[in-house]
Formats: sequence, C-alpha cells, structure tokens
Amino acid sequence: MEIIRKVDELKSALSAAKAAGKSVGLVPTMGALHAGHVSLIDRARSENDVVVVSVFVNPTQFNNPEDLRTYPRTEEADCAKLEAAGVDYAFIPTVEEMYPQPDTRVFDLGPVADVMEGKMRPGHFNGVAQVVSKLFAMVEPTRAYFGEKDFQQIAVIRRMVELEGFDLEIVPCPIKREDDGLALSSRNVRLNPEQRAIAPKIHKVLAESVGWAPEASVETVKTRVVDDINAYPGMEVEYYEIVNGYDMQPISDWSETDYAVGCVTVNVGDVRLIDNIKYTTK
Ligand code: PAF
Repeated sequence: MEIIRKVDELKSALSAAKAAGKSVGLVPTMGALHAGHVSLIDRARSENDVVVVSVFVNPTQFNNPEDLRTYPRTEEADCAKLEAAGVDYAFIPTVEEMYPQPDTRVFDLGPVADVMEGKMRPGHFNGVAQVVSKLFAMVEPTRAYFGEKDFQQIAVIRRMVELEGFDLEIVPCPIKREDDGLALSSRNVRLNPEQRAIAPKIHKVLAESVGWAPEASVETVKTRVVDDINAYPGMEVEYYEIVNGYDMQPISDWSETDYAVGCVTVNVGDVRLIDNIKYTTK
C-alpha cells in the first residue's frame, strides 16, 4: 500500500491505472477506522481493480469546534488496517492540501438536506458536499462507497453528484453492528463504560418498533421510540423521524411510501450517536 499526502501524487499514481481502463473504488473516511469501514473496503476491493481510501477529518463539515477537536485521530492504527484490508492507496492529506483556499461553494442540496441532521447541524451537509466533491474530482472513481449508518448523507451525496454531473456509482453499504447491536461508529470510543453498556438500547428500541408498525400509527411509533430510549438513564433523543427513504421527507402515514426509514440521533452524555432502521424494504 502506498500512502499519498499530495493531490498531484494521487492523480499521477492513478493515471496509469485509468489509462489501462482499470476501475477505481473510493472509500472516503475520516479515519478512526473500525470494522464498518473495513466492510466498505472489502466491498470496494471485490468490485474494483484499484482501491483508494481517503483519511481526512474534514473541518468544513463540523459545525461544533469541540466536536472537531475531540474527533478521534489514529493514523498509525488506520494505516495498519488499510494495509491489512488490501488497499492500494491511502490518501491522507493535510487541511492545507485539501483546502489551499477556503472553499466558499454553497451547494443547492434541496429538501434532502433540510431535515434531521441538516436541521440540527447547519452547514454540515454543505461541508460534506465540499469535501466529497473535491475527492471525486481528484480520484475520478468508478464507484464510491458509503455506510448506511449515515443514511441521510448518502441522499445528500447523490444530490451533489447530480448537481456536479459526476459520472460514478454511489454504493450504499449496510450498517455494521457490535454483537450487542450498537452501530459501529468512530465516536463509540468516546463512550465511558456505563455509556457503552447502555448505548445498544438505541438499536434494541428501534428493532422492537418495527414490530409495532403498521398497526400503530407513524406518530405513535415515533412517540414510543423517543419515550423508550429516553427512559434509559443518560440517553436523550435529539430527534426521531420516520422518513420516505427515497427523498428523506418525514411521513405521517405508512401508506405514503414502501420504503419507510426511522432515523435517530441520541446524545449519550456528550457523545452524539446516530442510527436508523428500515420499516419496509425495497
Ligand atoms: O461519513 C464520513 O465519514 C464523512 O462524512 C465523509 C463522507 C468521509 C466526508 O468527510
């Protein structure tokens, strides 16, 4: 595996593969890699000739400076995992390399970015669109891989791809969970032992709620999910929305879509965890 820190070097490393007609899979990450990331890399490895993983804690997507400061940074361990997963190129730029000038672009992300994370974290999705569009322009991947834990993010990235006219396939990959159900997240390392013990209840309640629908109304399911999670000490639901999985818009009746997805953000102490569950499948 080659570690690349400069954009020019990344482009020239990939040019030979591109000229030879090879497919390139990109897995964008912010590092602190775990088995969820490795599952994206495995998928990329199985579908492409060349695999690039970017490791970059993108400052423009953090609307909270403390969150940016405390975001885990574990480059050495990350590189060992990337090497073991058979990655060809680890792209690990500095902030100056990614943003030689401040990125002032404002993307018209539309309704998919107005709700849930977009509402709670103003500017977050614009920052995601900025960095991912830069990565797509640098790598020109055949396919790019994103975890479904960040369910809304995938819709936002699809919208950015449409706006910018990138010619690539976005590949959503299923959430990876610990044995006790907790969705894998780089933020999990910040949970103290008591918080770690209680955090799997998020998935437990979501999974139970699938059995309440469709007999219980959307509103009833939402209220019960919030109440049941909040009943656990130290957990506070920031929002729970049941949305149409195609356009991220909240639904009020199950009949509105054949793809209803419940999306939750829970503050466990000062650790913000997100998760989701599908009520109906495509
Ligand atoms: O999902 C993430 O880790 C980040 O939002 C991403 C897509 C790597 C952009 O910084």
